[in-house]
Amino acid sequence: MTDPDPIAHAAALLRAGELVAFPTETVYGLGADALNPAAVAKIYALKGRPAAHPLIVHLSAGSALEAWASHVPDAARRLAARFWPGPLTLILPRAGGVPDAVTGGQDTVGLRVPGHPVAQRLLAAFGGGVAAPSANRYGRVSPTSAAHVREEFGTATPCLLDGGDCEVGLESTIVSLAGEPLLVRPGGISQADLEAVIGPLRRAAAGEGPRAPGTTVSHYAPATPLRLVERAERDAGYGPGVAVLAGRPAPAGFAGILWVDAGTDPARYAHDLYASLRRLDWVGAELILVEAVPASPAWDAVRDRLGRAAAACAADELA
Ligand code: TXA
Ligand code: MG
Repeated sequence: MTDPDPIAHAAALLRAGELVAFPTETVYGLGADALNPAAVAKIYALKGRPAAHPLIVHLSAGSALEAWASHVPDAARRLAARFWPGPLTLILPRAGGVPDAVTGGQDTVGLRVPGHPVAQRLLAAFGGGVAAPSANRYGRVSPTSAAHVREEFGTATPCLLDGGDCEVGLESTIVSLAGEPLLVRPGGISQADLEAVIGPLRRAAAGEGPRAPGTTVSHYAPATPLRLVERAERDAGYGPGVAVLAGRPAPAGFAGILWVDAGTDPARYAHDLYASLRRLDWVGAELILVEAVPASPAWDAVRDRLGRAAAACAADELA
């Protein structure tokens, strides 16, 4: 007999060492019991991801951080009180019992209390930590809907809880408090909002801080080559064969295959970004061109992901 309550069923699968894909407010996650290394190994196998990459442990609201972190600095408590549940991941020194399979063998652990109600109900029903990366194949665009998860894994898709479209649409902001406070990855919570709570925060330089898949160039890339374009090129017009992502409507006479107008609101642009990249990737274009977004802090997370997508394509061309 299958359990009629999908949340209880998913929690039972987690307890049995199986995978569950679930919605968060950022992107969909591919989860396993964080204390079961054999279950966590299934995440790496399904994603095709190298095993040394650390995973974020997702916790239900009110969980004791001491079970996961050997030291919880005051700044971590203040950020947690202000932004959890929400799109923020804290990197802290790991506690003894956290498996290497979760931390990638590092002496830190990534913790997050997601705000999505389905994620919270799943975590409460399970009662433990759920290790989960984004529910996509390694190096590809993160899923922001249940349909995206099915596109990624097809018939290999595990139990999948459908929580609709992800509200934020980009991965969580990551702050390391394992040493000097560092902004490791920009996301839905801005640097200014973080600094208002804990004071100055340095943005990690490329290659600085812990090894992490979200901080390498092989991420967030569609299969079609993608390039960022600046003003001069866009004014010269686009030829046939291109698909364009822009913050404005298509100009008269646009001769390409598809034009996606993502608008001028950074939250809206972020919400739609991965779905837009999937659409642009499918229309058979030779090249995806993305018009540069504004240089202001409100666009930090979007600019970061677009830069990585373009860099990943450049790396592919060299390979
Ligand atoms: O919004 C998100 O963060 C989504 C949802 C599912 O929660 N998850 C996500 O996971 O983006 P993933 O695996 O794609 O990226 C996890 C990132 C790594 O790139 C790394 O930067 C950081 O989290 N991370 C996790 N554990 C860490 C650790 N022990 N030390 C350093 N960085 C860690
Ligand atoms: Mg990912």
